[in-house]
Amino acid sequence: APLEEVTLPLFFGWFLLSSVQEKVPCTSMDFLKTLDTLEAFKKHLVDFTGKAEKEVDLEQYFKPQGALHCTTKFCNYGKAEGAKEYAENPAVKESYGSAFELSLTALFVTPRTVGARVSLTDEQLKLWPADAEKEAASVVPAAASLPLGSRAHITLGCAEGVEPVQTGLDLLEILALQQEGQEGEPAEEMELGSLKYYGEGRWLLSLREPVCAPACFSSFYG
Ligand code: A2P
Repeated sequence: APLEEVTLPLFFGWFLLSSVQEKVPCTSMDFLKTLDTLEAFKKHLVDFTGKAEKEVDLEQYFKPQGALHCTTKFCNYGKAEGAKEYAENPAVKESYGSAFELSLTALFVTPRTVGARVSLTDEQLKLWPADAEKEAASVVPAAASLPLGSRAHITLGCAEGVEPVQTGLDLLEILALQQEGQEGEPAEEMELGSLKYYGEGRWLLSLREPVCAPACFSSFYG
């Protein structure tokens, strides 16, 4: 392909600095280690295993997906809709290579993915594509009416055969339920925060103390 066609990256996003590349997975591992021992979780084990009696080791169940990051725009080397416009956005150009502090406010687990919710500041929202939530509407219909930035997350792991794009969709599903007025079934007060169950294997832990993660806004070519 001519060079112009390959100058757009696979995706833009915030890449966690090495100082927290270890810390965040540790927090996530601690959570998973506790989650699969809870009676509340065992009660709904069938969501994960298809069989009530079977055990699950969540630490093995989810596979890590490489360097931790929060995707802003998936460009697919220019093939994704709006990729060029995003790359040419002055805010994107100005912030490229700059440091940011991401605030991780929740951890969530489904039978497909485990991720961290990222709560974006107004400044960070300037780098968020206007259609990121709407794009998911074919899979999560209510996503289009969720606030901008709702999809922002860090994929921490995926079940066998699941693509990382699923993590943001899983988060949107939970947020859509919350928007409909479903508060989730309180399951456990954990050291990290309060855990709620949203049915169909969906768990959300709201962190008592948000995790602050320094990150560099950049892109990935692969
Ligand atoms: P995520 O941001 O949830 O981790 P892949 O390796 O599958 O090509 O994906 C590369 C990155 O781009 C991953 O971080 C992935 O998910 C994200 N991603 C993949 N496809 C999409 C999509 N259609 N929309 C938004 N993000 C995507």
